[in-house]
Amino acid sequence: MRLITCENYAEMSKAAGLMVAGQIALKPNSVLGLATGSTPEGLYAELSRMYANKDLDFSEVKTFNLDEYYPIDRANDQSYYYFMNQHLYSKVNLKAENVHIPNGSAANAEAECVAYDKLIDDNCGIDLQILGIGNNGHIAFNEPAGELSAGTHLVKLTENTIEANSRFFASADDVPRTALTSGMATIMKARKIILMVSGANKREPLAKLLAGKITTDCPVTMLSMHSDVTIIADKAAMGG
Ligand code: GLP
Repeated sequence: MRLITCENYAEMSKAAGLMVAGQIALKPNSVLGLATGSTPEGLYAELSRMYANKDLDFSEVKTFNLDEYYPIDRANDQSYYYFMNQHLYSKVNLKAENVHIPNGSAANAEAECVAYDKLIDDNCGIDLQILGIGNNGHIAFNEPAGELSAGTHLVKLTENTIEANSRFFASADDVPRTALTSGMATIMKARKIILMVSGANKREPLAKLLAGKITTDCPVTMLSMHSDVTIIADKAAMGG
């Protein structure tokens, strides 16, 4: 694992933006794995800026997002589809047919998950996966548990996550209790991973990852087993 420490959130976003831009420059038809949450917002702003400056072209890029609440309509302003549209899709020249997010309004969640993994495989897998971390060490919505799932699956969100994500909703009661999420194997099969970590509330899971022990109680620690992970962390996440 490579660790890049940045002064602050803005620097972290810039560093990640340059890496994603480099990936697209080297392979214009890259398959990107994308994340939601406040952590990658600055990265998406960087990518949008580079596109506006004609430094980046997304016309052949394909994207697969990690997760989506379930059930939720994509028009709901709390859906991850809505988030991605607001922060990236509407800002760059990604083709509509090239962007993918698990369908939060699928009638059959299980079938949707199987189809999602197949679609990633059919597109030859993810070249570069962007990840954030939950306060409790979750990645995507793989929550701490005795067992983790390999493939995309329906998951029950923990109280910790419902509480953390309630800041985006009118109240914690409005946060969906379940979600569709990429599994650990879906993530680990990505050829390269960039983990973005910002803020003091991520210190604990980041420290666990850097300690080099692996536990399903802190899913991000699994990244120690991946051969190409770059962590971009700001000073606050590193402990000041
Ligand atoms: C959500 C997402 C994760 C994300 C996490 C952290 O639960 N499912 O993919 O990494 O939140 O969010 P934030 O970046 O807002 O702290």
